[in-house]
Amino acid sequence: MKIVFKINGKQVSMEVKPSLLLIDLIRDVLKLKGTKPGCLEGECGACSVIVDGEAINSCMYLAINVNGKEVSTIEGLTGTENPLHKVQDKMLEHGAVQCGFCTSGIVMTTKAYSDKCLEEGITPTREEVKKSLEGNLCRCTGYAKIIDAAEAVYKK
Ligand code: FES
Ligand code: FES
Repeated sequence: MKIVFKINGKQVSMEVKPSLLLIDLIRDVLKLKGTKPGCLEGECGACSVIVDGEAINSCMYLAINVNGKEVSTIEGLTGTENPLHKVQDKMLEHGAVQCGFCTSGIVMTTKAYSDKCLEEGITPTREEVKKSLEGNLCRCTGYAKIIDAAEAVYKK
């Protein structure tokens, strides 16, 4: 099937098999390796990317479903004119990264949630921030620093 979509701001058009998963399109076809394959069954969130403003598990999402949509991966957050994204800065400042395997998924989930909150003028509570990350598992940090970092995104 032919699909046309945007990824990290670039328009892409390609033929894909209907069974191709988005994570495989991103990592194997487009060679964007920042999106991580963890459980591959929708449990860990390591593969999270943003599709039309929503964080989704790319291991559970067919590539054909991005047709006509806009996809963002961790690679799209930074650029030569752009230092790290605010969410990434906060993760660093708070020591919320250890092995890093979960990090791109956590950053993308936090970005999608914080974009939505900022758009609606909402400052979420710590409990709400925690809830927004309930689909993202981390084996290393014990979560406190990740939640501190995600909460700090809303502080001036
Ligand atoms: S790799 Fe997709 S949710 Fe774990
Ligand atoms: S930093 Fe290692 S899994 Fe989260």
